[in-house]
Amino acid sequence: MNCPYCQRNLTSKKSLARGAGPICGSSGGSREMSLPAYSNAKAFLKKAQDNLLFEATQGLRPKFFYKEGDDCVLVKSIHGKEPENEFDMGLNPGGGIVEYSCNKIADLLGLPISRFGVMKIEDHECFTTELFTHKWLKADGKAQEFGALLPLQYFVDKEDDYRKLHDTVIKLSSCPEIDSEKFVTMTIYDALILNGDRHQENISMIEIGDTMVLSPVYDNMSAVYGCFDFNEIDPIKSKMTSGGVRMDTETVLRESFSLNPKASKAFCDKILVTRGLIIKQLDAIKDKKLRKLFAAGIESRLQTIELFVASFIKKAP
Ligand SMILES: Nc1ncnc2c1ncn2[C@@H]1O[C@H](COP(=O)(O)OP(=O)(O)O)[C@@H](O)[C@H]1O
Ligand SMILES: [Mg+2]
Repeated sequence: MNCPYCQRNLTSKKSLARGAGPICGSSGGSREMSLPAYSNAKAFLKKAQDNLLFEATQGLRPKFFYKEGDDCVLVKSIHGKEPENEFDMGLNPGGGIVEYSCNKIADLLGLPISRFGVMKIEDHECFTTELFTHKWLKADGKAQEFGALLPLQYFVDKEDDYRKLHDTVIKLSSCPEIDSEKFVTMTIYDALILNGDRHQENISMIEIGDTMVLSPVYDNMSAVYGCFDFNEIDPIKSKMTSGGVRMDTETVLRESFSLNPKASKAFCDKILVTRGLIIKQLDAIKDKKLRKLFAAGIESRLQTIELFVASFIKKAP
């Protein structure tokens, strides 16, 4: 059986462990997808309802899993069932663009992510991503579910720490080496974008045939987004949730390096090399206040990473 995204053979553990690069993710080239715009929200909602793949039950914000063109997608942050069919953007101004920017950064760094973009619905920019669990079969005119998403909460206890989550992923995985690398780089990336929401439901294994791998990295969101009082955020000291454990950037780096020094070092180097491009990506955030805060956060985290990598090199034999 081949992975529908990267076409890698998923039946042999050996071939997975040997293969370089991510599974089911960005193995080169941008993951950005172009999406239609809807000038009328009601027309969009009707179309999404008519093409619904399944009911949105998980997560906080309202969302649709439906067929758009030839793709099976998830559109986030829009109400479908309210009498007025209102958007919830009032609560989260610019949220779609922030999530888009975070995914652009992931894309730049070559993390395994699903194709993504923003869909403009009336005046709202809604974050949209291709489903990595379903694919549209043109010939049959229906969606095929090829993978089952299994969040880590099925396998761990609420209070389990970062190391335990990592070890659980490794134990479950058909390609432990690659997934160890994916796990630690995801966490360093979370520290970079100030993701405060990488809890056990935002890390999943994906079961395809009789194999299980860490899924592409999803719900990549900056914590800045959820903060209503921007002055509350100290970009260096603010805590992030990493696998359910609240940690600061330095702790995240230390833990990651101790779990997988080679992968951590390679990923940090990549971040530092792309730092100019990363800062440039923040231009996508239209809200000036938000952009300034996000940029300051990322810049100071880049410095922390730089210092940490320098000290790690000094200590290395
Ligand atoms: N690209 C995707 N393909 C398949 N399932 C997805 C994808 N992205 C998210 N999901 C599923 O949808 C759920 C909600 O999406 P998420 O991005 O986590 O939204 P929220 O911000 O509401 O938590 C996730 O927990 C996951 O089960
Ligand atoms: Mg989520």
